[in-house]
Amino acid sequence: MSKFPNLFTPGRIGSLALKNRILKAPTSTGMSNIDGSVSERLIRHYRDVARGGAGLIIVEYAYVDNHGAKSAHCQLGISTDDHIPGLAWLAQSIKEEGSCAGIQIEHAGRQKFLGIQPIVAPSVVPWPALKAKKGQAAVPRELTEPEILQIIEDFGSSALRAKLAGFDLVEIHGAHGYLITNFLSPHTNKRTDDWGGSHENRMRFALRVAENCRAKVGPDFPLTIRLSGTDYEPDGFPIEETAVLAKRLEALGIDAIHVSGGDHHQMIHQVSPMAIERCHNVWAAAELKKHVSIPIIASGSITLPELAEAVLAEGKGDFIGLARPLWADPEWPIKAQEGRPEDIRPCIRCNDGCLDRTFFNYQAVSCSVNPEIGREGTFKITPAVRRKKICVIGGGVAGMEAARVCALRGHSVTLFEKRDLGGALIEGSVAEFKADLRPMIDYWKTQMSKLGIEIRREEATAESAAGFDVAIVAVGGEPAVPKLPGIDHANVVDALDVFNGAEVGKQVLVLGGGETAVETALYLHDQGVPVSMLVRRDTLMAHDVAITDRIAYSEMLVKDGIPVITNLQVKAVNADGVTASSTTTGEEKRIPADTVVTALGYRPRTNNLAQSLRERKIPEVYEIGDCVRAARIFDAVHAAYKLGIRI
Ligand SMILES: Cc1cc2nc3c(=O)[nH]c(=O)nc-3n(C[C@H](O)[C@H](O)[C@H](O)COP(=O)(O)O)c2cc1C
Repeated sequence: MSKFPNLFTPGRIGSLALKNRILKAPTSTGMSNIDGSVSERLIRHYRDVARGGAGLIIVEYAYVDNHGAKSAHCQLGISTDDHIPGLAWLAQSIKEEGSCAGIQIEHAGRQKFLGIQPIVAPSVVPWPALKAKKGQAAVPRELTEPEILQIIEDFGSSALRAKLAGFDLVEIHGAHGYLITNFLSPHTNKRTDDWGGSHENRMRFALRVAENCRAKVGPDFPLTIRLSGTDYEPDGFPIEETAVLAKRLEALGIDAIHVSGGDHHQMIHQVSPMAIERCHNVWAAAELKKHVSIPIIASGSITLPELAEAVLAEGKGDFIGLARPLWADPEWPIKAQEGRPEDIRPCIRCNDGCLDRTFFNYQAVSCSVNPEIGREGTFKITPAVRRKKICVIGGGVAGMEAARVCALRGHSVTLFEKRDLGGALIEGSVAEFKADLRPMIDYWKTQMSKLGIEIRREEATAESAAGFDVAIVAVGGEPAVPKLPGIDHANVVDALDVFNGAEVGKQVLVLGGGETAVETALYLHDQGVPVSMLVRRDTLMAHDVAITDRIAYSEMLVKDGIPVITNLQVKAVNADGVTASSTTTGEEKRIPADTVVTALGYRPRTNNLAQSLRERKIPEVYEIGDCVRAARIFDAVHAAYKLGIRI
């Protein structure tokens, strides 16, 4: 009996029969050639994803014209017939791996990344995140009616190209703040002609696009649309309007509605970080399901098979769209089907690998927890040429990943860790809003046990490593302790102590403005402890925080009403609080607190272990992770993986 019977029940979208209910939600990779044509790298990527067992792969958004449609660098194109041969190669490759192949067609509207021009939209309402650069506008130009009609035509021609290229399905991108949403939302559509104003007028563009695509591909070709249930803009469109739109689209012959949420301005509702609850937009899928009889694809933060199964079992969707989870582990479907969900490397929704370092930064996609994404064919775990005896010292992220990769390659691995496995994730996953990290720790623990890695619950010394061919030192970081008078008072605790259950007084003051400080304050608030924050700068989370975390945490701080005292430099800790001086006026102040929590960042653990090991002539000694540079999960995993594949 399958653990996930609903997920692995075959289904249909229009005339397309699918082997299961899992589809790869479109996710732009930035791996096409600069002219939008398909690259070999893109093919390798999608082959790997398709091999993982999803019933349908909807390939990332492809721009429909060469004027204003393109959103991102090295985006896939479907704007000319020259794109068809490459697209055919892509569709074929996916199908050869046993999945069905769909493609999403898109026009950027007002949302363009990093200086791509021109920007056209229904109205002159800029995407606030876009900053004008020299010689480049950040403000969209208002489309004329002939241009609108041409874009409708371009959507239809692109849908036909997809069909000619051999795709099994076309999805119209009507979500996430791109052109179709720009028309739908009163937030971005200020027109007074037939394309703006009433809901009927704002829907017109979406309906005409759908109608034209249907006309071009013929009555039986599978055609879906992705919609944001709501754009989450206060003056945007509500779910009630989307329900009306969905019904109209169904009447026009759309075969399924793929439900997401938000726009780029409301990014945390679109690509939700771990602080936002899982299955974030499933409510909208469930609502739309009440209004149409065509299949509903639920998507967004459905990270684990049990969540996906529940969505189907509870009738909140007919299919499940997975985006980041299939980057974290393309084999998610196969592993779920084989009844071993514990082997799925979970998406932790950090948005570090897929958004911050890459999409927002001129880079092709990568993933914090899966270094192979974007490096398909280059990064591979292959059997080691010579089997070595390896000791890994430290059971945090870097140590566990290195141990896993080395063991997979056939090395004999022993891991030394005196605490439980997990390293900084142990404290890092205590808060409910960081619960996504818990399955991540479980994944590594399970893999270690399945791979037969010996775990020694002891602190490694130079002697412990005697006899090993390789020592990997991954002893992690430690909190940075400020040199302040009174810092060793009994009323001072570190953030890590807080997450380990240290007792705190009735009024807590958190020192620090970084991510850990914010998380500590939010956690204490959740525990019912009155807490405030004190920061030297004029703002919190000034650097080194994922953009979506910054947005989510800022909103949570406001919602929780946590006072933040800015521009104060702490001078001393006293028995009843701290003394601080203003960084602007120099004025001295006393801030009362029963407990002072230091959350001032991490630094590499001071430890001469690696040096001692080298002196003892261990043949190969490496250091990785926070003990080299205190950084993020991405850095630790990637360093460990890259080391593991070359030992
Ligand atoms: C880097 C990146 C690129 C994306 N590209 C697209 C896209 O091309 N089309 C689209 O509809 N959604 C796109 N999305 C949104 C995802 O399809 C998905 O809705 C979102 O990541 C939330 O779902 P998940 O939790 O399964 O990742 C993208 C998301 C990310 C992180």
